[in-house]
Amino acid sequence: MYALLIIPVLALLYFGLLFWFRDRNASLRMDFKKLKDDPWYFDRKFLWGSATSSYQVEGGCTNNNWFQFESAVDENGHPRISNGQKAGMASDHWDRYKEDIQLMKELSLNAYRFSVEWSKIEPKQGEFDEAALDHYEQVVDELLANGIEPMVTLHHFTNPIWFEEKGAFLQEDSPETFTRFVEHVLGRLGPKVKLWCTINEPTAYAFSGYFIGLFPPAQKNLQTAAVVMRNLLRAHTAAYTAIKKMQPQAQAGLVVVMMIYDPPSRWNLLDVVFNHLLNRNMSDSQLRYLTDGIFKFSIPGLASETYASSVRDTFDFIGVNYYTRFLWKLRPYGKRKLDIVKKAPPERVTDMEWEIYPEGFYRVLKLVSSYTSKPIYITENGLADDSDTKRAKFIEDHLLVLNKAIADGMNIRGYFYWSLMDNFEWAYGFEKRFGLYHIDYATQKRTLREGSRKYAEIIRKTREVR
Ligand code: FCB
Repeated sequence: MYALLIIPVLALLYFGLLFWFRDRNASLRMDFKKLKDDPWYFDRKFLWGSATSSYQVEGGCTNNNWFQFESAVDENGHPRISNGQKAGMASDHWDRYKEDIQLMKELSLNAYRFSVEWSKIEPKQGEFDEAALDHYEQVVDELLANGIEPMVTLHHFTNPIWFEEKGAFLQEDSPETFTRFVEHVLGRLGPKVKLWCTINEPTAYAFSGYFIGLFPPAQKNLQTAAVVMRNLLRAHTAAYTAIKKMQPQAQAGLVVVMMIYDPPSRWNLLDVVFNHLLNRNMSDSQLRYLTDGIFKFSIPGLASETYASSVRDTFDFIGVNYYTRFLWKLRPYGKRKLDIVKKAPPERVTDMEWEIYPEGFYRVLKLVSSYTSKPIYITENGLADDSDTKRAKFIEDHLLVLNKAIADGMNIRGYFYWSLMDNFEWAYGFEKRFGLYHIDYATQKRTLREGSRKYAEIIRKTREVR
C-alpha cells in the first residue's frame, strides 16, 4: 500500500523542486519586428558610447600580470595565450587616441569608457609616474573638448607585477593597496571626470584567474576564487568610499558581468538547480552585496564564503556588461564533469561561440532593476564577428530591447558598445574581433565596419525624435 504512494510522492517532490528553482523568465520570447514599431525612448542626456580597456588597446603594457602571462605555458607546455600571441602595441591607442576620438565623433558617440593602467601609473609600490597620469589627463581633455563624456575604469583585469607577486586580491589588505592608487588617480583626474567604474567584472577576474585557469595566475580552486571575489567587492567599497570623499559629486559604480545561466533541459532537476546556483552566486551575490553589504557565495560541498560589510549601498550606479547566456551541464558521474551545452544555430553564434540572445539582455536588466532603482549603465555589450555578417542585427536587436526596458520604466542612462576598435581579447589574442572599427594590425589602419553603421543610424534616429 505504502509502496504505491512512493512514486507519486517522489514525483511531487521532483516537480515541486523543479518549479521552485525554475527561472520563470527563461521562456521569454520577443518579437523584434514588432519592437521596431515602438518609438525611441532614449532622451537627450542618454550616453551613447564605446568601451575599451588599457591592456587590450594601448600597447606598451610591459609591467603587468598579463605581460608575464604572455610568456607563460600551461601544464602541457602550451602557451597561455592562443598561439603564443603577445599584446605588444595592441591597437596603439596610447599614441593614436586623438585619431580614435575622431572615430567616435564620426559615429555620433557622446561618451567613452576606458581604463587607466595601474602598472603604468604605479610601476613600483608607492611610486607614481606623473607622466602616465599626464597622458590620461590629456585623453580626458581631448574627450571633453570633443563633447565626449569620459567614464574611467580603475581596474580592468590587469595588476602591476609588484602587486601580482604579493598575491594580488588574495591579500587581505589588497583593498587598501588598491585604494591608495585610486586616490592618486582621483587627485589628478577627479576634477574632470564625473563617472567612475571601480572594478570591472569581479566574477570574470576571480573565476577565470582562480578557478578556470584562463587568466593569470591560472589557478584552479573554487574556494580561492570565492575569496578573491570577496576581496574585489571589499576593494570596490573602499574605492567607492575614497572617491566620494574626494569628489562628492562624482558618480561611481561597480561593473558586473551579467551572464545568464539556463538549464540545458528544463525538466532535468540537476540542470535546473545547478544553473540556479550559478545565477545566484555569480550575479545575485554581487547585486546583493552592493545593496545590502552582504556577500554570500555558496556551492554546497565545494565552496563557501561570506562577508558582511559595515557599509551598504556603496554605489551610485550599476555598470552592466551583457554578452550571452550559457547552458551548463553538470555530470556528476561523467568523465567531463562540467560542460557547456550548445543549442543555438550558427547564425545566432558569435566568433567567441557565444549565443546571441537579446532576450537575455531584458532578463538581466529586470533582475538588476529588482535590486535597485539607481541608474544603470550598459558598460559593455557587443560581439566578435570578423565576417561582419551579424553585427548590424545584433546591435539593432539589443537596442530594441534596451528601448523596451526604458519604456517599461527601467532607469537606464547609457550604453557602451564593446568595443570601439578591434583589440587584444585576453587569452584569445587578436583573432576575436569586437571592433566597430576593423584594425589592420600591420599598419594600424582603422576602417569602419559596414555593420557598425547601424549603431550610428540608431543614435541619430533617437536624437531626431527628442
Ligand atoms: C568582457 C571584458 C572585456 C572584453 C569583453 C569581450 O568580459 O570586460 O575586456 O574582453 O568581455
